[in-house]
Amino acid sequence: MRMRNLYRKPTTLRCNAGSRCYSASAVIWSLLGCLLLFHLYSNIHHKHGEGREVQLRVTNHPQFRELQQVEEEIIQLPPQKGKRSPRAAKRRHKRVTPLVDEFLDEDSRLRHVFFPGNNSAIDPVKVTGNDSYYYYPGRIWLDTDRNPIQAHGGGILYDERSNTYYWYGEYKDGLTYRAHKRGAARVDIIGVGCYSSKDLWTWKNEGIVLAAEEMNGTHDLYKSNVLERPKVIFNDKTRKYVMWMHIDDANYTKAAVGIAISDTPDGPFEYLGSQRPHGYESRDMTVFKDEDGVAYLIYSSEENNVLHIGPMTEDYLNLMPVMRRVFVGQRREAPAVFKHQGTYYMITSGCTGWAPNEALAHAAESILGPWETLGNPCVGGNKMFRIATFLAQSTFVLPLPGFSGSFIFMADRWNPSDLRDSRYVWLPLIVEGPTHHSSEYISRLPLWSRVSIYWHRKWRLPQGWSTFK
Ligand code: DGJ
Repeated sequence: MRMRNLYRKPTTLRCNAGSRCYSASAVIWSLLGCLLLFHLYSNIHHKHGEGREVQLRVTNHPQFRELQQVEEEIIQLPPQKGKRSPRAAKRRHKRVTPLVDEFLDEDSRLRHVFFPGNNSAIDPVKVTGNDSYYYYPGRIWLDTDRNPIQAHGGGILYDERSNTYYWYGEYKDGLTYRAHKRGAARVDIIGVGCYSSKDLWTWKNEGIVLAAEEMNGTHDLYKSNVLERPKVIFNDKTRKYVMWMHIDDANYTKAAVGIAISDTPDGPFEYLGSQRPHGYESRDMTVFKDEDGVAYLIYSSEENNVLHIGPMTEDYLNLMPVMRRVFVGQRREAPAVFKHQGTYYMITSGCTGWAPNEALAHAAESILGPWETLGNPCVGGNKMFRIATFLAQSTFVLPLPGFSGSFIFMADRWNPSDLRDSRYVWLPLIVEGPTHHSSEYISRLPLWSRVSIYWHRKWRLPQGWSTFK
């Protein structure tokens, strides 16, 4: 009713009072305009105010400013002629970027660029002084026993009880083979590797905390099956460490999630079984524990066409009968979820097996959606690098709790011809400022903060990062 009266007023005025009516109507329209502008301003201010606050805090520190410097990477591709493997020829036919094509070519002359050898391995035990704490994305990374870290498709848990970080991932130190001629390259299940660290750089091997089943061929963890992307969260109520993981058969047709628990972060974990969440297929997945203690499972489903998100039960051992379908028809996988100042963010990859593809960042006000796509978060390197996520695939985003708005983006540079030799690409991820206005993705308000993953050949966390407030 009220609305109708509001609209009737100017109409009446304009009809009966000539120019006076026009000025009255102009006043009303100006008022409405002001109201609209004010609304827009407060909306933007609300969103970007947070960004500005972060910007001040993040960019004020010179070492954080360094992380946001755009670093170019020049890769000279050799001319595309001569003898190439038939697989490479097929990929070229499918119009993969020339860089990805080169990357996937086992005989590439740039192999040492994509997979640098042993002599450049990061060895925290040996390195001292000024060279300490540097991450070199793509290089072999040794644990404190000086063996390459085996924690692929992994995630990190910060254990408040011991002030220690635990990195869990696929222990893939076995032979790469194909179960079928057309099947994906694979390594038999060995188990979930676990490493501990206080500084996020020096990692001690805590062993295999969930091992493959050697004898029982019907067991989910039987070695010829698939165990991928394990993630662990701590349940404050039950005091259990709960691991969720992708469980599959060699053909990826089982498409389930497995659950295991432990009393301690370094295991051993007891395997409880697997399920198809909400009755649906589940392949790439992750978990996210929110500030209120509610945890969520996020998984690629419906033949990888749709991402599903649903809350877990209080004990984190099951799912509630609530599920949302997001990115319908967009074929996203490798989800990594994080939160900043009340907004949820997600990085996903496309679906191209072990081959790298373009990452996308997404944002939502509720973890159950709706989710909006912000665009490609990769900054620096070169164009081909950016549309191939620096030749890697997302697996986890780790908050640096002492420093609001800054995260470590964790990704896997898969080596499909020798999966055990897959590398880690860790890079700084910063949430700040208004998003680049990519009309391709952003369709409406609110305006989100910008998510940027900065390429660096070499970088380290600012000294004392864990104590910043
Ligand atoms: C892509 C997924 O992200 C990986 O975890 C793995 O399942 C490969 N596909 C297998 O091809």
